[in-house]
Amino acid sequence: MALFTKKKAAPERPEFEVLPNHLGIIMDGNGRWAKKRGLPRNAGHKEGAETFRAIAKECAELGIKYVTFYAFSTENWKRPQEEVDGIMRLFKEYLLEAKRDFVKAGDNKIIFIGERDGIRQDLIDLMDEAERDTASHNATTINLALNYGGRQEIVSAVNKLIKEGKTEITEDDISANLYTVPECDMIIRPSGEQRLSNFLLWQAAYSEFWYSDVLWPDFTKEDLYSALRDYEKRNRRFGG
Ligand code: FPP
Repeated sequence: MALFTKKKAAPERPEFEVLPNHLGIIMDGNGRWAKKRGLPRNAGHKEGAETFRAIAKECAELGIKYVTFYAFSTENWKRPQEEVDGIMRLFKEYLLEAKRDFVKAGDNKIIFIGERDGIRQDLIDLMDEAERDTASHNATTINLALNYGGRQEIVSAVNKLIKEGKTEITEDDISANLYTVPECDMIIRPSGEQRLSNFLLWQAAYSEFWYSDVLWPDFTKEDLYSALRDYEKRNRRFGG
């Protein structure tokens, strides 16, 4: 018998009995994170983009099937041009990087939800390319809500149905004409705010909410685990 057994390293990634099939994340608090440090707001977005990379990767490693990140709302265009340009630059950097590594090597799918109108053509081309290159991937689907509004999504679904000639519609008709995101099981919102802010209005009808005071750039894997532990304990009744 060996005198010394090698001490097993504690597993870094906990196991969960149940995971949300679709997790929504509102990436909030970048501006406050920067302000606290006397930095320009775009420094907060840059750090937020790093958190996005880490959390998206972790969700995929955990095996969550769909994750939707609220990255830029239809209202965010009202922000100063410099800030909007900075955020768009971060998307572009991510997409160029995704093209190099993630898209070629990984088996996760990238989908953009939101309206293409108003987005620069070079970015649209990269978005289309990322979607095309990952279309056959079947691990985690990472939805990036960009130029997204929940009300706009419902209105556009109804308009599609009107164009088809429908005069009466069902819930299933609307569901089938939304962007390709399934029912959302849980929404995480950091930064202390407790509102939905026009995110996944239709899909979140029975979502569990999880709030935290931590600002998005400081959000860690451990925060994600806490949210998922909480989700395990929720008793979901879907109105029944
Ligand atoms: C909300 O925080 C955040 C945004 C409107 C932008 C989110 C963008 C990123 C995290 C970068 C995304 C990059 C990639 C690659 C996906 P806020 O600015 O409203 O913060 P505040 O409420 O503290 O002012």
